[in-house]
Formats: sequence, structure tokens, C-alpha cells
Amino acid sequence: MNIILLGPPGAGKGTQARKLVEERGMVQLSTGDMLREARSSGTEMGQRVAQVMDRGELVTDEIVIGLIAEKLAQGATGGFIFDGFPRTLAQADALGALLAEMGQKLDAVIEMRVDDAALVARITGRFTCGDCGEVYHDQTRPTKVEGVCDSCGSSNLKRRADDNEESLRQRLMEYYKKTSPLIGYYYAKGNLHVVDGLGEIPAVSGDIKAALDNA
Ligand code: AP5
Ligand code: MG
Repeated sequence: MNIILLGPPGAGKGTQARKLVEERGMVQLSTGDMLREARSSGTEMGQRVAQVMDRGELVTDEIVIGLIAEKLAQGATGGFIFDGFPRTLAQADALGALLAEMGQKLDAVIEMRVDDAALVARITGRFTCGDCGEVYHDQTRPTKVEGVCDSCGSSNLKRRADDNEESLRQRLMEYYKKTSPLIGYYYAKGNLHVVDGLGEIPAVSGDIKAALDNA
């Protein structure tokens, strides 16, 4: 099964994708994570996109489509979870074409709906494990032992350079201008499922499961 998690910054896409990986053996493809990896490994592409990401703008379609195409070619028996991709109509068309070339299709698009007012609190309280990628929050999902990742025991906990209110406003603007048209696009294709992303993390996971069982 191949699915898209669609939603604004802080909607909980990464958090829910990790649960689906654990529970269903799916492969998470987060273009944000791939771009951050390219930045930290200092590749030429990583250096080129760093400032764009910190400003909260979208990097070019060409770059992210290239990253996704490379990962798709590696295959996934449990299916792919697209997290933060596609973000433009051109990316959505490219994904459809890439899957069709592989004889595959998109099974469901989950729109995670969250009030804008909740997003600032989610983003400014977020931190992640630099080693295993587990996602935490100062208030809603702290680590059990302060400064230590519950999942892998690492103390390499990090905050993202774009997790400040100014970048978040730009990310939201990009979402409404360029990504939200995908809601109508996938509705028209017949595979959109809307989930309330404001509930607690397990409740959101339950709603996603129900949507996937009906897909
Ligand atoms: P990306 O990394 O994709 O960031 P984003 O879309 O802004 O989304 P986030 O990762 O911030 O939020 P999320 O929905 O994953 O939420 P999370 O689960 O972490 O992209 C970053 C940048 O890369 C972009 O701005 C752009 O520059 C570039 N980029 C990436 N993809 C691109 C593309 N396709 N095209 C062009 N450019 C691209 O949760 C957030 C917080 O809330 C956490 O602290 C979590 O613990 C907490 N939380 C989660 N769920 C709940 C809940 N139900 N209740 C309470 N707290 C919760
Ligand atoms: Mg994310």
C-alpha cells in the first residue's frame, strides 16, 4: 500500500509515519529528512538548499522529485509512506508518473487537519533524536529521562533551524499557496481521506488506521 500524509508544518506527519513504519513495515520517504541529511553531510545540493529551508520556502521540484525517484527505485515490500511529498501539483503529477512506471499506484491520501493556532505551539516545542529520528515535544511528548532518547538511548537531541515562528509563518504561507491545492487534486482522483490531527497522538493513529482499512 502506498500512501501520502498531507498536512501543514507540525500536523504530525513525521510522528504518524514512524508509527506506520513500526506497525506495518512500510518505508517512510520524508523529503524534509532527506534534505536535512544532504545538508548535514555537506553535499553540494545540501549547501544549495540550506538557506531556502531555513527561510521556510520550498526547494525546487527538480531536486525533490530526483530524491524521491532514487528511493522509489530501491522498492519497498510494505509500501511507501510519502511524508512532506508531494508539495506542489508538479510533484503530484511526477509521483503519479513514477508509480505508474513501476506498475504501482497510490492507495490513499490522508489529509491531517489541524488548526493553524495549534501549529506554532507544536513547532516551537519540537525536538528530535539526531540518531534515530524519534520526534518529541516539550509539553505533549517529552522524553522519559530528560536529555535521553526513549527509543535508542542517545543524548543527541536536536532542534531544527526552521522551527521558529518566523520560518513557520513562511512555511504555512507556502503550504496554503502551493500545497493545499493538492487536497482538491486528490479529492477529485477519489483517494482523499480526512483525519482530525488535533487529537492525541494515539487517537490520530487510530483514525489513520480506520481510513487505511477503508481505502
Ligand atoms: P519538512 O521536514 O517536511 O517539514 P514540514 O512539512 O514543515 O513538517 P514538519 O516536519 O515540521 O511537521 P510534521 O507534520 O512532520 O510534524 P511532527 O510529526 O514533527 O520540510 C522542511 C523543509 O524542507 C520545507 O520547509 C522545505 O524547505 C523543504 N522541503 C521538504 N519537502 C519538500 C518538498 N516536497 N518540496 C519542496 N521543499 C521541500 O510533529 C510536530 C510536533 O508536534 C512534534 O513535537 C510532535 O511531538 C508534536 N505532535 C505530533 N502529533 C501530535 C498530536 N496529535 N498532539 C500533540 N502533539 C503532537
Ligand atoms: Mg516532519
